[in-house]
Amino acid sequence: MRAVQIDRFGTPDVLDLVVAPEPEPGPGEVLIRTVATSLNPVDDKTREGAIGDGTPPLPMTLGWDLAGIVVDGGDSGLRAGERVIAMSHQLGSGRGTWADLVALPASAVAVAPQTVGLVEAATLPLPGLTAWQTLNWLAVSAGERLLIAGAAGAVGGVALQLACARGVAVDALVSRDAQVAFARGHGAEVVATDPDAFRARSYDAVFDTFGAFLTDAVADGGRYASIATQAGPVPDLSARGVRTTVNQVHEDGAGLRELAGLVDDGSLRLRVHAAFGVDRIRAAHRRFLRGGLSGKIAVTF
Ligand SMILES: NC(=O)c1ccc[n+]([C@@H]2O[C@H](COP(=O)([O-])OP(=O)(O)OC[C@H]3O[C@@H](n4cnc5c(N)ncnc54)[C@H](OP(=O)(O)O)[C@@H]3O)[C@@H](O)[C@H]2O)c1
Repeated sequence: MRAVQIDRFGTPDVLDLVVAPEPEPGPGEVLIRTVATSLNPVDDKTREGAIGDGTPPLPMTLGWDLAGIVVDGGDSGLRAGERVIAMSHQLGSGRGTWADLVALPASAVAVAPQTVGLVEAATLPLPGLTAWQTLNWLAVSAGERLLIAGAAGAVGGVALQLACARGVAVDALVSRDAQVAFARGHGAEVVATDPDAFRARSYDAVFDTFGAFLTDAVADGGRYASIATQAGPVPDLSARGVRTTVNQVHEDGAGLRELAGLVDDGSLRLRVHAAFGVDRIRAAHRRFLRGGLSGKIAVTF
């Protein structure tokens, strides 16, 4: 089968489409034929060698997102031919999804949303679970006020929609004027490109997707979650009674089922900026690196 691997760290030129052995699903695993995947910042950092210690050994197959068709459902209850999505924690397990066939624990897999194609569905798993799990940590509920930094990004854009669907009042920090319309159109109230535009100590919770550290904005007694691992820890705000975390996404098929339901009931809209065939994986990465995106870069198999 084909797999996108690196045998060294570097520019997109280190990405190779190689012939790799087919995985054998173990007990409790599902074998999936990949139809589409998408690029995430972690793939880029892994390829560059920016993650540091703890990456899987080289050569490694990259990729976290997966949308595909079940080949062998094992004892999972999933049937051969069923459309599924999954997130694989590639850094933790070494199981990259950028391959024709991927074996994953059944607990990481969910039936795909019915109302979108698998290319769109492939943009959901990693950003969706990150948004879902971080909002759950923040425990924001209807009537509370949430500030999202990076609200038009992949994770921020999902978090914005999920929070609005929960009845949370959301304000949004975005990077450029082109993102203002997106944030307003998806339910944000105050939308600004200036981090000083938000009232101090007025938010029950802050969801920080890029290391903005808008710590003045959170109310005393509030919650502050960052997902920007590489920006470092959130400053200690315990003197103000603010709980803080740098949240780390984990595999979660049950969370994916909830997210698929929200896609199907129209609460969550997915965005594909462009799709590339897997034979153009280097071009896909170069497009990702240029930035200015209005959705995710998908890759088809
Ligand atoms: N901890 C975890 O488990 C976890 C999980 C998923 C992702 N992450 C990390 O979280 C980060 C976001 O991921 P993502 O997939 O959402 O990336 P993304 O799609 O690039 O989103 C980041 C957003 O933040 C915006 N932004 C960046 N700098 C800004 C600034 N100074 N002011 C205002 N907006 C700014 C970007 O704007 P532009 O589009 O203009 O650049 C973009 O809209 C990445 O660093 C990723 O590695 C961590």
